[in-house]
Amino acid sequence: MALRLGDVVPDFTQDSTEGPLNFYEWAGDSWIVLFSHPKDFTPVCTTELGAVARLKPEFDQRNVKVIALSVDDSDSHRGWVGDIEETQGCAVNYPILADPDRKVADLYDMIHPNANNTLTVRSVFIIDPAKKLRLTLTYPASTGRNFPELLRVIDSLQLTDNYSVATPVNWQDGDDCVIVPALQDPEVLKEKFPKGYTVVKPYLRMTPQPNR
Ligand code: BEZ
Repeated sequence: MALRLGDVVPDFTQDSTEGPLNFYEWAGDSWIVLFSHPKDFTPVCTTELGAVARLKPEFDQRNVKVIALSVDDSDSHRGWVGDIEETQGCAVNYPILADPDRKVADLYDMIHPNANNTLTVRSVFIIDPAKKLRLTLTYPASTGRNFPELLRVIDSLQLTDNYSVATPVNWQDGDDCVIVPALQDPEVLKEKFPKGYTVVKPYLRMTPQPNR
């Protein structure tokens, strides 16, 4: 069955560009972005893997490790990373899992047979330090992903895990947040939101980002 939000994700050991890798050990206490791409030596994937390498400082700042995967083997991956560095202006600075036996692709449901019988689709999994799945995305092979959007979601998850807020449409780090509807006690509201809040509707209350 496909993984669902809140599930503990499965562990695995698989070869990678950095040698054999046990997922849970490698992940440690970090947040994880695991993303699959259809194939090595393809144009959209080349741009995606380069963009992720350039964003590494942003992921590091958020205690996030990134890891890519396709059904190609590690020799193929190692051949391709040279092209990525040459064309995208940044060396690949994270592991790429080799999955020719589809062990990980099957565990994480990354092959969608009606899209393509053999290649992984563009899946994304955001996994928290407790190994729980917090976001999934599935993009078609023809559409490159927006990785700054993943950073935005991570900012939201890390904020809303620690404060009684949710983040509204198109929110960016530093913008006002909404107070979760479950919180109604005026004394608790005063204590949790010392900067105050605006009641737009009883269920829509805006407050400055609490950790800023
Ligand atoms: C690409 O990454 O460019 C790509 C991969 C598979 C199908 C189409 C495009």
